Amino acid sequence: MTNFKFAGVDTVYLANKYKTPLYVMSENMILDRINEIKTNFLEKYENTEVFYASKAFLTKEMARIIKSEKLGIDVVSGGELYTVMQVDFPPEKIIFHGNNKTEEELEKAIKYGVGRIIVDNLYELSLLNNITQRYNKKINVLFRVTPGVDSNTHKYIQTGQIDSKFGIPLSQGIIFEAIENALKSTYIGLLGFHFHIGSQIFDKENYIKAIKNVVNLMAEAKNRFGFITKELNIGGGYGIKYIDKEERKPISYYTDAFMEEIEESCNDYGLERPKVIIEPGRWIVGEAGITLYTIGAIKEIPGVRIYASVDGGMTDNPRPSLYQAEYKGIIANKADKGPSETVTIAGKCCESGDILIWNLKVPPIESGDILAVLSTGAYNYSMASNYNKIPKPAVVMIKDGVDRLIVKRESYEDMIKNEL
Ligand code: LLP
Repeated sequence: MTNFKFAGVDTVYLANKYKTPLYVMSENMILDRINEIKTNFLEKYENTEVFYASKAFLTKEMARIIKSEKLGIDVVSGGELYTVMQVDFPPEKIIFHGNNKTEEELEKAIKYGVGRIIVDNLYELSLLNNITQRYNKKINVLFRVTPGVDSNTHKYIQTGQIDSKFGIPLSQGIIFEAIENALKSTYIGLLGFHFHIGSQIFDKENYIKAIKNVVNLMAEAKNRFGFITKELNIGGGYGIKYIDKEERKPISYYTDAFMEEIEESCNDYGLERPKVIIEPGRWIVGEAGITLYTIGAIKEIPGVRIYASVDGGMTDNPRPSLYQAEYKGIIANKADKGPSETVTIAGKCCESGDILIWNLKVPPIESGDILAVLSTGAYNYSMASNYNKIPKPAVVMIKDGVDRLIVKRESYEDMIKNEL
């Protein structure tokens, strides 16, 4: 009998050793992606930088990996900032995002000395003005703008359209008010602009449209205020493979096209090409993670459907219920057997919507089988919840065929430790 191997390790062995549900990550795959980015973007083009979008997957160990690879990191909350601070992440290599950063979070970031704050709105700009004056500290910022483009992805993960909660719209002159305010301030060092059009995107076309719009803004800012854009951050969002019909594209598919468009558009306006920054999250970690579950109850409704329930569900992977996301699953202890039946993989939460995979083709399935769900490295651990008081799974990292625990399984005590 052949078991399903991930990153060179028998997944049934992992399930027995660490119990299920279990997140398993491959450090080698993460490093492969980072190396691809280094070779095909950072080393290929001068004056470029990469910030890993830590919201996709962040633990202290992940922050250590990013730190030792010398990439920057993007954080979006006091909690993410706190986590990277625990591994002494170099402050200048941190950028701080978010559409409603609190005064407390901004103070913490300024005290730590983060490299850039991505300012989302005019309210945040005024908070920053006050805090930086109080601490007598200058802070470098980029303005997040909504470039007014669509992105071919789920509505909930689109962010580039005019009607978005993120960023300063390019229309109605609001951005020029913001630029003027920043340029007047002694404490705000405006370096340039940021946009992010969405997530799980497979085509470059909408990025190109957004780049055109933002380079146009750069030219207008130069005309109106003599402002020279030093940095252009074009966000992340590059798609990965979840199911067979999808295919992850090489990073150069996106970055070569971005660089060509930026060079050309800047040339057209007589602008110098600014530093170009990208912020991939999912593309780095998504396929580098799987989740292992044990099959429990199997319910057959004759002529209707077979439900096979697992010991996790929307608590460790909310993506199917939030975005109708699809996943591929493999019965790990029967990996060499062909499919003979179709089952629907249900989670154990008290929610009818807690279905992980509809209509999965499997070999004859039995209680006690181990199910591996693929491509769960991004936005699973980071979006996990304790609904129904279900503890969060452990996380195991594999490097060169050796497994190590990087996050302990939560206990019942952990879950109620703050309850009085
Ligand atoms: N930069 C900014 C400003 C972002 O808002 C995001 C993602 C990224 C970079 C990284 O995007 P990525 O390369 O990972 O696609 N929970 C959703 C995804 C939300 C993405 C939020 N922003 C999901 O599970 O699909």
